[in-house]
Amino acid sequence: METMSLVDNPTDETTNQNAPKKVVIETWGCQMNVADSETMLEMLRSRNYEITESLDDADLVLLNTCHIREKATHKVISRLGRLREITSAKSKPTTIAVAGCVAQAEGKKLLKQAPNIDILFGPGKISELPQLLDEHKKSGQQVLSIGFANKNTSETQSSQETPESASILEPVGTKTAIHGKTEISRYVNIAQGCNNFCTFCVVPFTRGREISRSKEDILQECSSMLQQGAKEITLLGQNVNSYGLDLLGINSNDFHPDDGGPFVDLLAAVASLDGLDRLRFTTSNPHDFTRPLAQLFAAQPKLGRYIHLPVQCGNNEVLAAMKRKVTVESYLERVNWLRDVDPEFAISTDLIVGFPGETEEQFEGTLELMKAVGYSFVFAFKYSPRKGTAAARFRQQIPEEVKSQRLAKLNELQDQMTMASNQKEIGRHRQVLVHYESKKDPGHYYGRTEQFRLVKIPSGRDIIGHLVEVDIIDANKTALLGRLL
Ligand code: 5AD
Ligand code: SF4
Repeated sequence: METMSLVDNPTDETTNQNAPKKVVIETWGCQMNVADSETMLEMLRSRNYEITESLDDADLVLLNTCHIREKATHKVISRLGRLREITSAKSKPTTIAVAGCVAQAEGKKLLKQAPNIDILFGPGKISELPQLLDEHKKSGQQVLSIGFANKNTSETQSSQETPESASILEPVGTKTAIHGKTEISRYVNIAQGCNNFCTFCVVPFTRGREISRSKEDILQECSSMLQQGAKEITLLGQNVNSYGLDLLGINSNDFHPDDGGPFVDLLAAVASLDGLDRLRFTTSNPHDFTRPLAQLFAAQPKLGRYIHLPVQCGNNEVLAAMKRKVTVESYLERVNWLRDVDPEFAISTDLIVGFPGETEEQFEGTLELMKAVGYSFVFAFKYSPRKGTAAARFRQQIPEEVKSQRLAKLNELQDQMTMASNQKEIGRHRQVLVHYESKKDPGHYYGRTEQFRLVKIPSGRDIIGHLVEVDIIDANKTALLGRLL
């Protein structure tokens, strides 16, 4: 049986009380998790923590986890096993905290399975992190806080009562970019949770029902990021298009595609902030995607010419079984609204292969839809049954090897299409927001076009944070090569 380091930390203070403590943050999953990690880092900074990449130096290791597919969960469990080996060989005591959707979904079960976890808390409990650290330090016991921002569904288990703290939806002041997105490009959460209950998806169970932040809070956070030098902001939510309907008490099923609504208002307000060059948002649910939103792209150049619009599959029966509330036809109608704004409007999507009962012919429908839309890229996944979701209980689960074959076929088609769409860029003139300099290849910078295509640009001067004009002179599957004008 494994011994655990639960009681290591109460005596953790070194002689120098003011020396900064070190934290390693590892983030899995979606951009929401990236934004949550930034929030947690900011909280820890105000408690005298510094970020490090070295596990040897770390006083605290924080895993921000993803539960969307089984593979993601397995990765977390095996990482915890590896951490146990690493930290037990260290002389310095290390607190292990697990946040995110695995923490929320697995709760106490995970604490038993991985006794080296000291602190476990869900995405709705991020604001409690400082108290949880204190509590663990005081008691030396495992502490757990899961549940949603809504008090009624909250569960807190620990040796002491944890104070009911502010919801995660409150402004967190200035956040610090740590992962994925650079200082030039920042994420801002506009809503938590989801009300849709697509039959394959675990998110409504791990992140709870949709709760939108107030427009004022969001604008305040965006402004502070712009003051710190951000040039691009990406607004985040599981379903950004239904942003604010909860604040107005409107059911998203009653929302007509011709209505503008609170999300369109929010985008217009953020777009008008000083210092912003680009405004993006994700993820859009096609069901709540409205015509005025498509038209806003024409009126508002900062929105660029790109959207991620997950369809999941290209067959109406499968879409109905997924409870996606759109058909292939209504999805294509939305694509047309965007292509009316700009025939070259870039669109990406998420696709699932091997949903329960999916026939070969239904799968072919997905390939047909991909050809009809001409996606600039796709994220494709094998269906993964998630406990508690409706589809996990459906009969006719598809064998793993069939899923793998379908995924390979789909990816092969998309690779050809991505390559072709990138090659079509050669000879075009594009405006690129430059995000960072290549570490491997100094003197080469990376940025994105309005269509969200990645461009590598050689430059003798530092162009980070600039909107530059380039000619596209070459392309492969992953990036374009631009010549600075
Ligand atoms: N199996 C496979 N893919 C899934 N996704 C969500 N749940 C599952 C699941 N159970 C995919 C969807 C979603 C993306 C974030 O992850 O395509 O859009
Ligand atoms: Fe999951 Fe569907 Fe909500 Fe997206 S819209 S988070 S796929 S339930």
